[in-house]
Amino acid sequence: MRIWVYPGSFDPLTLGHEDIISRGAKLCDTLHIAVLNNDAKSPMFSVAERIDFITECTKDIPNVVVSSFDGLLVTYVKNINASAILRGIRSNNDFEYEHSMAQLNKKLDSNIETTLICANPIYQCISSSRVKEIAALGGDIEELVNKSIQKKIKKYFNRRTK
Ligand code: PNS
Repeated sequence: MRIWVYPGSFDPLTLGHEDIISRGAKLCDTLHIAVLNNDAKSPMFSVAERIDFITECTKDIPNVVVSSFDGLLVTYVKNINASAILRGIRSNNDFEYEHSMAQLNKKLDSNIETTLICANPIYQCISSSRVKEIAALGGDIEELVNKSIQKKIKKYFNRRTK
């Protein structure tokens, strides 16, 4: 049974994340999407909200499980008997970051592999932080995030500007 983990902040989940999830889910038996529980990052959405959004957006992929984690990623990976970490890369900068994280995770637990998937070029420029910035300034995020999340993001910024 190949269990993989796709960890991240997912604040919010973007169409780029969704693409990595659907492609990654084909490479393993179960893909755990693990939302980082870290209030220090002052997230836009709570962990529970992010889990709900991801669950809704991945409901048609049967081998996806959505949960959260805190502490060291390799501890979570080991606790659920997963063998690999999945991450997406959009650019050379991402590669540098992911490469060092993969090397350090390997040092922490030599049994855990990291698999990197190159982003689909149509999603290459999308990041959660750009989505937040564009939405905060009233821009169109239709091609960046799932329809169901767009409404929540717009609501969040409407509430803040009132
Ligand atoms: O989507 P993000 O914010 O780029 O995800 C980063 C994440 C959650 C994968 C990374 O910060 C992480 O693994 N945090 C858990 C703490 C940890 O294990 N740190 C050591 C990594 S080498």
